Amino acid sequence: MNNPQAPFVGLIAHHPGPCPVRGHGDAFHQATVEQGLPATEYFRLSGIRDCARQTGGLCSFWMGERLALYQLNNRPLLDDECLAASTEANHELFGGFLGSLHISDPQRAHKRRVVEQALGSQRFIDGLKPDICRLAAAYLRPLQDQPLCMEHLALQWVSHVDSHLPGVLDCRVKTLAQYLEDERFRAVVGGFFEQASKVISHDDTQGLEQHQALMPFVKDLLLSNFQSICAAPASNLILGHFALWGLAFTRQNIEALNLDRALEIGTIIIATYDTTALSLLWSMAHIERSPQTKREVIAAACATRDQAPHVIDLAVMEALRLGGSNPTVLWRRTIKACEIEHAGQRLVIPPDTLLWLDRWQANRDPNVFPRPEVFDPGNILVLQENGDQPHAFCTSLLARNRYDINSFSMLNTRRNPRKCPGRLFSVRMQSLLLRELYGHYEVSSEGIDLSLRRHSAMPKPARPGVITLRPKASGAPSDE
Ligand code: HEM
Repeated sequence: MNNPQAPFVGLIAHHPGPCPVRGHGDAFHQATVEQGLPATEYFRLSGIRDCARQTGGLCSFWMGERLALYQLNNRPLLDDECLAASTEANHELFGGFLGSLHISDPQRAHKRRVVEQALGSQRFIDGLKPDICRLAAAYLRPLQDQPLCMEHLALQWVSHVDSHLPGVLDCRVKTLAQYLEDERFRAVVGGFFEQASKVISHDDTQGLEQHQALMPFVKDLLLSNFQSICAAPASNLILGHFALWGLAFTRQNIEALNLDRALEIGTIIIATYDTTALSLLWSMAHIERSPQTKREVIAAACATRDQAPHVIDLAVMEALRLGGSNPTVLWRRTIKACEIEHAGQRLVIPPDTLLWLDRWQANRDPNVFPRPEVFDPGNILVLQENGDQPHAFCTSLLARNRYDINSFSMLNTRRNPRKCPGRLFSVRMQSLLLRELYGHYEVSSEGIDLSLRRHSAMPKPARPGVITLRPKASGAPSDE
């Protein structure tokens, strides 16, 4: 089939790509799957990014036989109902997870509520603060004075704290940190989101073959932790899902869990710690590589009174802008003809168009951020709007209708109804862990390389580096 060269002549710039028949399809596959380039790199090297930059942030191209639009800014272009479910392309991996349901599906509201009533509630999260601080401190204490791989530390630390928090996962008998070390499960548990991201960011469907592998992990986790989950507060995400399915939380029902439900709860469990851990890794790596910000973070972590906005909250948001834990470029598919506005004109894009958002670049938009390529909490401060309260500024920034930074949505749609329901919890958790780290330890590091790792669909630092923690002379780390 010969593709038309430019589907939106005079409206949207078009990049033909290396092949007159398949456009960018084969070259993209070769670059991302075979050479291991991050997807954002492909769009730079291919010239699509420049093409979009010169023409208001959008550019059309052919991805094989599929029409595609590339977007370079965080402006919401259309309503969510015009799009297939976010995880349509990899729904086999996620089972009944709500991300795989169309926005109009009535089950979505119940499923979202299970997560939002706990992790989306400021009151619930505030109530967790003493537990997070206590657990975070206790975890670090035996690790003093030894070199630690920063990536391993972030994953183990977050999964340990998440496992113990009352009313979240309550996996205290055999923790997620232990599962990540268990050779029977660690490959599938540790690599789950990486597989899912390969499908959606690199268009590499091989990961879909893994979809059944999560089942034994989920059953083992629920059975091993049966007692602690049974005794958990009602907000517990696992109990919430059993209630949603109309099932009593019994050993028998766990044994009989079908694949759809096992994958659904498995996805929620892994989403809870894995995403936060990767974002925390970026936060620590950037702070370690930015001497001025590190000094400010240490001062803020040691201060007896919090300033507002807190510099550590700003640093977490800034690391989410530059790093974060969803792929550098993501796509969703239109399911009907939909109107968008571009360069002052209205145009209709047809069903079955792939909308690709390069969030890695959109989060570095020079029209929004004064120092787009530099880790500087000042980039976040400029986002303050009239009416943002200084002490709640980062919470306002995470609101559904804020589009300044894309780290919690696949695409930015109007009113963002799918924006991650775990975002408030995740940002708060990172902020409290960093206060513990920099408030009680002299932190030194070496070997960090912040460029993007090859052969990784999730954005990871090329080298996460090694850090060493030494207790501060001013006193031993506290339990508080
Ligand atoms: C830094 C941490 C996190 C990041 C970067 C992140 C990112 C995302 C992204 C990009 C989406 C897709 C939204 C869309 O479809 O447009 C999402 C959805 C979701 N996330 Fe997170 N997430 C994080 C933490 C969490 C946590 C802690 C949970 C806890 C369970 C969680 C649960 C979910 C759920 C249930 C959805 C589906 C929402 C829906 O379809 O309405 N996430 N997240």
